[in-house]
Amino acid sequence: MKHIRNFSIIAHIDHGKSTLSDRLIQATDIVSDRDFKDQILDSMDIERERGITIKSQTVCLPYRAKTGQHYSLNLIDTPGHVDFSYEVSRALASCEGALLLIDASQGVEAQTLANMYLAMEHDLEIIPIINKIDLPSADVERVKAQIEEDLGLDPDTAILASAKEGIGIEEVLEGAVNLLPPPEGDPDAPLKALIFDSHYDPFRGTIVHFRVIDGKIRAGDTIRFMFNNATYRVEEVGIFRIVRVPRKELTAGEVGYMIAGIKTVSDTRCGDTVTLHSHPCDAPMSGFKETKPVVFSSIYPVASDAYEELAVAMEKLKLNDAALIYEKDSSVALGFGFRCGFLGLLHLEVVQERLEREYDLSLILTAPSVQYEITLNDGTTEIIDNPALYPDPTLIQNTREPYIRAAIIVPDRYMGAVMKLCLERRGINKNYQYLTNNRLEMIFEIPLAEVVYDFYDRLKSVTQGYGSFDYDIIDYRDTDLVKLDILINGDRVDALSQLVHRERSVMRGRRACEKLKEEIPRQMFKIAIQGAIGGKIISRATVSPFRKDVTAKCYGGDISRKRKLLEKQKKGKKRMKMVGQVEIPQSAFLSVLKSE
Ligand code: GTP
Repeated sequence: MKHIRNFSIIAHIDHGKSTLSDRLIQATDIVSDRDFKDQILDSMDIERERGITIKSQTVCLPYRAKTGQHYSLNLIDTPGHVDFSYEVSRALASCEGALLLIDASQGVEAQTLANMYLAMEHDLEIIPIINKIDLPSADVERVKAQIEEDLGLDPDTAILASAKEGIGIEEVLEGAVNLLPPPEGDPDAPLKALIFDSHYDPFRGTIVHFRVIDGKIRAGDTIRFMFNNATYRVEEVGIFRIVRVPRKELTAGEVGYMIAGIKTVSDTRCGDTVTLHSHPCDAPMSGFKETKPVVFSSIYPVASDAYEELAVAMEKLKLNDAALIYEKDSSVALGFGFRCGFLGLLHLEVVQERLEREYDLSLILTAPSVQYEITLNDGTTEIIDNPALYPDPTLIQNTREPYIRAAIIVPDRYMGAVMKLCLERRGINKNYQYLTNNRLEMIFEIPLAEVVYDFYDRLKSVTQGYGSFDYDIIDYRDTDLVKLDILINGDRVDALSQLVHRERSVMRGRRACEKLKEEIPRQMFKIAIQGAIGGKIISRATVSPFRKDVTAKCYGGDISRKRKLLEKQKKGKKRMKMVGQVEIPQSAFLSVLKSE
């Protein structure tokens, strides 16, 4: 156990975590250079394309230190985006240390702070690493000052690195060995192991990722999950070397996987404790919460006969994503689909992309909503996240909506722009403080509903990319809602309805009509778009008729070119949904929320 180190890399998004992980893996020679793909830990296509890490993956690196001693370094990869902070917390609970990575040109940002607080809550030893020192805009002295002032860490312990150029990699490995404590635990005590992740393998079922705290686990053991008392027989245990490498047993301090004939990942709860059925430990590990979805939206197939396909795809996706919840839903305009709960907007986008890409489906997502607590006149309370289920307003006594505490870090020259943006979103400025000379941390309380759509994009744009943002849900507060309906040629399209704050409803209705006018292509007849609240029309826009003849451009007789164009148009059509007589593009369903 003395020669094991368990640690995570934590960082603000884009500060270089995946790149550094790649370098550490390369430095320890567990994959040949020929097999090496950049960002080898990000195995999903979407992750590779967007360069973000969604699902954490763990890897065990064999390392021979300068002293000649051999070590096992368990690197637990964590996602960097606020939506996935639950995964960060699970991973951190199985570590003794954390490498806190900071971009040398960007400095400390909102998620650097948030992640550091999480690491401190888990009592981890923290090593600051200043990355990207190769950049011309790198300002190491400024970042060192921030490490001291904002983070309260010793700037002299910071390791200077460039993951891209391979600078400082050995220092990072030596730092892990010399500065992080080895795991503690009793190999002879009853088994106590912490589940921090799981994924689904089509051939082997659920692969559970865990850390052994006390005791030992080996194939043939009968184990028990302490949350639901389910028992399973262990088929295989082993460690992660990019691929799974079976081991005879795993003992206290080690990190690895087990396969035990578990059908779906939802049977295993992240944060749950595993013990031996015959010889259980006294108490489960403490401190884990269940993750709760905060953003809700309905997913429908564009082709109505693709519902069954979508159902199968959802089931498969759920195997790998325990945080995704869904139930059957139906809409007059769109037919059958699913109402889904997500951890945040990024999670929603990832689910949509995976469904479209991995299962070749064309989908419509309805405008995301938060959950409202609605108390009716008869004293009962309902939780509503779907505008379609919004009760008759005359029956409502009181409505409450979720609020967040948002921490925004920006250079002070953007203070006015951020203030304006947050006030527009019904935010209340609670506090602000200078972190360093010209960097401000601004604290706002904002309704969650106002940030679920395009807030982060807007923040980035008003601060020219410098603003960073982190949030927690704090409480539910009284609010005044109305249901905004959209009528297309006189018919209410239920899938375009949204719940909005009364004060902003007219403005939102106007925006929604304008956006839909831009999105809905001209057709052979006039299309009237109207916004309505309780039957009263508050806004309108018209799409005038037009016959788009794409072949008109192909003068001359190039038939293949003509065919190509027609094909293209046909393909485009798959992204359109017939609602009554009108073809509405996929993107229109989300556009009603756009603020710009
Ligand atoms: P998330 O997984 O989305 O949180 O991002 P990440 O923190 O893993 O960042 P990633 O490794 O994807 O790097 C972000 C960008 O910074 C990429 O374009 C990298 O090529 C670049 N980058 C990473 N390290 C360095 C470095 O040392 N120097 C320079 N110049 N660029 C770097």
